[in-house]
Amino acid sequence: MTDRYAHLVSGGLGRTVAEKLGLPRPAVLRRYSPGQPLIDGPVLVHGSTAGADSLASELLLWGLDVRRQAGSGEAPGAIIVVLDDIEHPDGLAEPILAAAPSLRGLAPSGRFITLSRPASRAESPVQAAARQGVEGFLRSVAKELRAGATANGILLAPGVGTTSWSVLAAVKFFLSGRSAFVDGQLLTVSTPGGEPRELEKPLSGRVAVVTGAARGIGAAIARTLHRDGATLVLVDVPASGDQLAAVANEVRGTALQLDISRRDAGERILGCAVPRHGRLDIMVHNAGITRDKLLANMDESRWRAVLDINLSAQLRINEVLLASDGFRESPRIVSVASTSGIAGNRGQTNYAASKAGVIGMVRAAAPLLASRGGSINAVAPGFIETDMTARIPFALREVGRRLNSLQQGGLPIDVAESIAFLAGDSAAGINGEVLRVCGQNLVGA
Ligand code: NAI
Repeated sequence: MTDRYAHLVSGGLGRTVAEKLGLPRPAVLRRYSPGQPLIDGPVLVHGSTAGADSLASELLLWGLDVRRQAGSGEAPGAIIVVLDDIEHPDGLAEPILAAAPSLRGLAPSGRFITLSRPASRAESPVQAAARQGVEGFLRSVAKELRAGATANGILLAPGVGTTSWSVLAAVKFFLSGRSAFVDGQLLTVSTPGGEPRELEKPLSGRVAVVTGAARGIGAAIARTLHRDGATLVLVDVPASGDQLAAVANEVRGTALQLDISRRDAGERILGCAVPRHGRLDIMVHNAGITRDKLLANMDESRWRAVLDINLSAQLRINEVLLASDGFRESPRIVSVASTSGIAGNRGQTNYAASKAGVIGMVRAAAPLLASRGGSINAVAPGFIETDMTARIPFALREVGRRLNSLQQGGLPIDVAESIAFLAGDSAAGINGEVLRVCGQNLVGA
């Protein structure tokens, strides 16, 4: 799927016309490729707490050009503001305003990251107010940045320090090109997480199942998990058998033709993965459908098909997997939700109900997964360029594409990178979260 408008205004006459008319000029985003530096340019770490000092020391160990103060005229690649001990709204001014002047020079596709504490775990209304203030601030900064730069926040639960493993994993993810289309988001790290395996391929030795892998986002997830070293079992409906086989060949995985709405889908998945590979480590629920209609015109078959494939199938499969010995050791589940399930969307009552249901499932199942040393999270894409969005009528599609802070649709790889991050060992302390991959949709939450 191509965004012709974005190409048109990226240079030459198209660019001049767009500039003159004040039309959106989406930037070419910095996306990850192997061997690329984590970030181009100095990383400014603001904040005067012990947490800020230790984070700065850790980033130095990564070989980054870390600064504690803005240099003259040098464009920072990233600005990190550590606000881990804010007790009162008055405490926000100093660290935030100290970081403000550097924003003007932030490099294209630069990064702005806050580290703070969740308001939901505050001990007083004053502390909660200050903490919640950080969230409003962060989401607004994200809307002010230009040229593909993004702003994201990390919320540190009690007992989680700025250099806990999963916090460092989140910092690395947000700094890198892997998070190109993640913008204006706050991700909670609930436990420190375990020491990551320092591997070039962080998912090597892991066995992963991806549903809906024949095309679109699912095929991108398969390719990304393969790049990161996972062994794959790829699922899609028999009607997509040829496409599925092609993706499976490409990633040297196993193709399993299966309609996930079948009542025995969980058993079929286990029956394919465990005898071949001895176990299953990562379950990615990506398969999904839309059957859009205004509610007044909604028929039962559209409603039931969407709820069953997008939600009930995941619930049934998880139940079977979690009861199995094959999926017992540090099980990781990542589900694909949607921003429609958060903000709602006209004509998508069935789809939004299913995707909101996925979010409910993820939050409720998190303690169970945590008790087994695992995690369950959701990724909620906004507008992503796939066959699904290519079917949207042109005018609506163009609106959907531009109405986010990055003024463009995301690519399947953007969703896949977030899933690979959440499935990795280093993200073990992130559980029950919903990470939006939407370029900060301007509509909705
Ligand atoms: P797509 O329609 O291009 O691909 C979906 C895949 O799932 C297809 O290969 C299809 O055959 C498979 N599938 C459908 N029903 C199945 C079943 N019963 N059993 C097994 N496989 C089945 O869709 P796309 O765009 O790649 O979406 C992937 C996921 O991302 C879906 O869950 C979708 O709801 C979600 N999503 C997509 C967004 C977008 O902008 N494209 C936005 C938000 C969420």
